[in-house]
Amino acid sequence: MISTPARLSFAVALAVGLGLVASCSSSSVEPPAGPDAEAPEEDAGDDPSFPCPASGVSKGPWTLAMTRTSVIVRWEACREGSSPTLSFKPEAGGASVEITSTQKTVTLTQRHTAPLGPLRSPDDLPGTFVMHDAAIGALTPGTCYRYELAADRTLAGRFCTAQPDGGRVHFLAIGDTNPLLGEATAKVLGHVLPLGADFVVHGGDIQYYDSFLETWAGWFPPMQPLLALGAFQPALGNHELETDDELTDYTLRFFGTPNLGGASMYYRFESGGLWFHVLDTEQPIDPGSPQGQWLLAGLSDVSQQPGFRGSIIAMHRPFVTCGDNAQKDTERKAFASAFAQHKVVFVIQAHIHGYERFEIDGLTFVTTGGGGGLIGNIDENLSRAECAMRRASGGFFHALDVVVEGKELRAKAVDDSGAARDSFTIALP
Ligand SMILES: [Fe+2]
Repeated sequence: MISTPARLSFAVALAVGLGLVASCSSSSVEPPAGPDAEAPEEDAGDDPSFPCPASGVSKGPWTLAMTRTSVIVRWEACREGSSPTLSFKPEAGGASVEITSTQKTVTLTQRHTAPLGPLRSPDDLPGTFVMHDAAIGALTPGTCYRYELAADRTLAGRFCTAQPDGGRVHFLAIGDTNPLLGEATAKVLGHVLPLGADFVVHGGDIQYYDSFLETWAGWFPPMQPLLALGAFQPALGNHELETDDELTDYTLRFFGTPNLGGASMYYRFESGGLWFHVLDTEQPIDPGSPQGQWLLAGLSDVSQQPGFRGSIIAMHRPFVTCGDNAQKDTERKAFASAFAQHKVVFVIQAHIHGYERFEIDGLTFVTTGGGGGLIGNIDENLSRAECAMRRASGGFFHALDVVVEGKELRAKAVDDSGAARDSFTIALP
């Protein structure tokens, strides 16, 4: 009899050998449907493979939509009637406050299965779920809080509000997380979470149906430590819409906010006078496109606001890479003068499974796509002219820890052994 870890290793090896484990460069491929793909509605709680816990909470909690004075804490319940109450208090101590979530019932009709990972990744089931949103306001800027759910007080986490003008901004950037493909994601998280960032910028490709090893139901438990760290501020990647229902039924149901998936799929947020412009690279981003126009107007607008310290772009498909996929060099060149004029200081990109850092005309671009997806060939297109401006690179799993203090941005790429594989500093204007 093969042990569970051995079976998983065998499944991974088989998947890799058959070319089934998708990298970012793969096109969207719908995984084989489960046996009940056309099944009528059912209650997820009735499925013995994924019983509804006594608390009624089936995913989360996690935090979204961070501002200086507010956040949204969200969780999924697999039945009606679980407690809607969340309590929170400042991490540094203070009185606990209770808040009641708003609830929205969602009915899913499709089942998704991870055919190579059934021992570790339960099916995403059709059925009726209840999304709870605790919209917390009147918070203190630059302050971290601890929260827990009344439904089960072990379901707890942390969030931090955005910093006031000039405050110390500490965030984690990670991309292409595939936690059920081996141990890489867990190892990276084990080394970067203790660094204590206040929020997470995810560069997209959050979960991989295309790895055939992973479902959203399997994704949440190993990612819960990251979700408990602070607000989760994602960019959309190509793997957020692998199936016809994934974007609406999963990605946006979990991570959509009034600013993401509401009026548009791109959004911006701020902390300490640093503005993050999060792009949707599944749509056109050239300066003439609606998204490009939105970006140009926003860059100009925020640069004139009191306390402005610089703009950061976060996106999935890269402006520049020497790796195994296309680069958006035409768009990068078209935006170059506007980026310089409006003080874009840093570009975070993903999609290429590895690490790269470029310095192009005074602007730093980092590819941080080493969150757990199968490492790709980061040198496949070394003949590109931009590769002469690549300052660091490596095919390794990692996340990027970033601290902005005063007029300086300091970052380090931490790999799955805890080693800092690249460190750099950017002077803010
Ligand atoms: Fe991708």
